[in-house]
Amino acid sequence: MAFVNATSGTTLVPSGGEGEALPLLPHGCALLHHQVAGHKAAMLLHPDGAVLKQLQPPPRGLRELQMYSQVFDNDCTDKMFLALREFLPHFQGTWSPEEGNNCSSNNNNNTLYIKLEDVTRHFSMPCILDVKIGRCTYDPFASPEKVLYERRKYPNMEHVGFIILGMRVYQVESNSFKVYDKTFGRALASDSNSLRIGLSNFFHNGQSLRTDVIPGIMHRLGRICTWFQRQTCLHFYRSSLLIVYEGAVFFPTSLCGTIRPTAAVECGPEASASCYVKMGGWSLDSKSQHCCKNKARVKRRTACSPAAVRNSRARSREVATAVKNANDEHSVTTDAKSLYLSHSANDQVTLKHLSDVRMIDFAHVFPANDRDEGFLFGLQKLMAVLQTIKETH
Ligand SMILES: Nc1ncnc2c1ncn2[C@@H]1O[C@H](COP(=O)(O)OP(=O)(O)O)[C@@H](O)[C@H]1O
Ligand SMILES: [Mg+2]
Repeated sequence: MAFVNATSGTTLVPSGGEGEALPLLPHGCALLHHQVAGHKAAMLLHPDGAVLKQLQPPPRGLRELQMYSQVFDNDCTDKMFLALREFLPHFQGTWSPEEGNNCSSNNNNNTLYIKLEDVTRHFSMPCILDVKIGRCTYDPFASPEKVLYERRKYPNMEHVGFIILGMRVYQVESNSFKVYDKTFGRALASDSNSLRIGLSNFFHNGQSLRTDVIPGIMHRLGRICTWFQRQTCLHFYRSSLLIVYEGAVFFPTSLCGTIRPTAAVECGPEASASCYVKMGGWSLDSKSQHCCKNKARVKRRTACSPAAVRNSRARSREVATAVKNANDEHSVTTDAKSLYLSHSANDQVTLKHLSDVRMIDFAHVFPANDRDEGFLFGLQKLMAVLQTIKETH
């Protein structure tokens, strides 16, 4: 486990410090600084904010590319593939450094990358979990040596059905991310208590357990589960779910009407798979101290007159209902209690993304003609553990 200082927002961060050898990167690209698992240096951030995943050697890379190409093919009419679109990062084709007009002087200009939407882009302080799903971490074509190697790495996989590959969790006090690597998941025992405690770390911001984001995550997982219960055409091995939630804490700036709303933060118009609502009247600050100051100030101000407090409460209830409806419409559930809602004549009824879940890593996806029981098993086990975390809190 390690700590990474949180930067404000999700800007491209130049990697490497003094004395650290920087890998040669295609011009304008940066390492994917928020990557939590997988092949290091194979994931980049394109200058336009997209994620670039280096095509793996055949047949793995081609399998993954084929998967994305099929699902996002403009002529696709297959209902199962079409239904899958909302659960995958949006595929933006392939990219090679040659396409960037000015390449750095490395020999990798022919390298091909899969260009994907950055699933974390709408989040201010994205807490990210990469969890591999299934009862085995090898595909049916793996050599006996590979099977043995994979089984030894995590013998519990068959009973547990998932393994934490990596996660980063925003810590409010220190304004940093706690980072867990694959050794954390491998060390977890297979009993439900250990899994609950282990997975709880993903929701702990140093001050409290963010169980408020669990319903939204469960909702997405439930929909993915439904997809798997209906489809019989694909089996997913070694695939992951990427679970993201907002680590930043928001405080209102206009509860009393006497405080001016802060500048609106746009989440981006192309947000489709999960809830997209504009923010307005919120104070968003990555520095917890600043948030706390705001909170104190708001508390003082809201005490200005009983009528103002009553009005503000009524408005908050009104907004909570509106937000709930908006979320229902977008098929994303949000625990309104977790939000400090603000509303004034000039404000919009607003809410930022709280969570998202996507399927990633398709290098071992194979055609099939029955349900993927292995993936379903793991997914349901994961959901059960999340439910326990929510209930026992
Ligand atoms: N579309 C994406 N948006 C944001 N982060 C991503 C995306 N795809 C992958 N990542 C990050 O990169 C890591 C590795 O991705 P993955 O596709 O599993 O690669 P590998 O094949 O090397 O395992 C993930 O754990 C996640 O942190
Ligand atoms: Mg992976």
